[in-house]
Amino acid sequence: MQELVFATHNKHKAREIEAIVSSEYRIYTLDEVDFQEPVPENENSLEGNASQKAWYIHDRLGKDCFADDTGLEVDCLNGAPGVFSARYAALTHDKEIDEPVSEANIRKLLRQMYQETNRKARFRTIIALILDGKEYTFEGIVEGEILRGKRGSDGFGYDPVFLPTGYTDTFAEMSLKEKNLISHRALAVSKLVTFLKNYRSG
Ligand code: IMP
Repeated sequence: MQELVFATHNKHKAREIEAIVSSEYRIYTLDEVDFQEPVPENENSLEGNASQKAWYIHDRLGKDCFADDTGLEVDCLNGAPGVFSARYAALTHDKEIDEPVSEANIRKLLRQMYQETNRKARFRTIIALILDGKEYTFEGIVEGEILRGKRGSDGFGYDPVFLPTGYTDTFAEMSLKEKNLISHRALAVSKLVTFLKNYRSG
């Protein structure tokens, strides 16, 4: 059985992938290999961050591994918040206002886009895999637009303002199952899984 470390603390994400490749691969989260130190991600692109995280774990543990990074890229903001999606509002966030980070991020995004009519945006996930000393990259993209206000209460992050192209529900109005059929992360993961399956049988 081939072992792979997923550079995440999110067990749920790891189990989802493992369920699909379980006959050939055993997937470990960072907690499961007792890796507690922070993993650096200070590159200025999703590709750079995913690669940096994967090589960092590979070099520390000497094990095959993969890492992901996701960002929301908005056309009229020249691709922002992009690689800074998680901490978009951090610099301007008024600490006196006790609101979740995702709320502050959405507020900042809507404020920045207030006068914009071009609302086109996409979520992009990059997965970097280090296998037998070589790096492979997988990309998942979902195109859509940023609404002028929030709709729906499921999901996380920018889900309430993201309307995927061809759908009438935002990501936050969809069930997790529906979102997982079309999401950026699901697409990148499915490319990774296909690659892993063929790699072992090829
Ligand atoms: P991560 O690389 O998966 O941690 O994602 C970075 C940031 O992008 C998150 O903190 C969210 O703000 C945003 N993000 C990533 N994926 C999604 C999604 O599926 N829906 C909404 N926001 C997301």
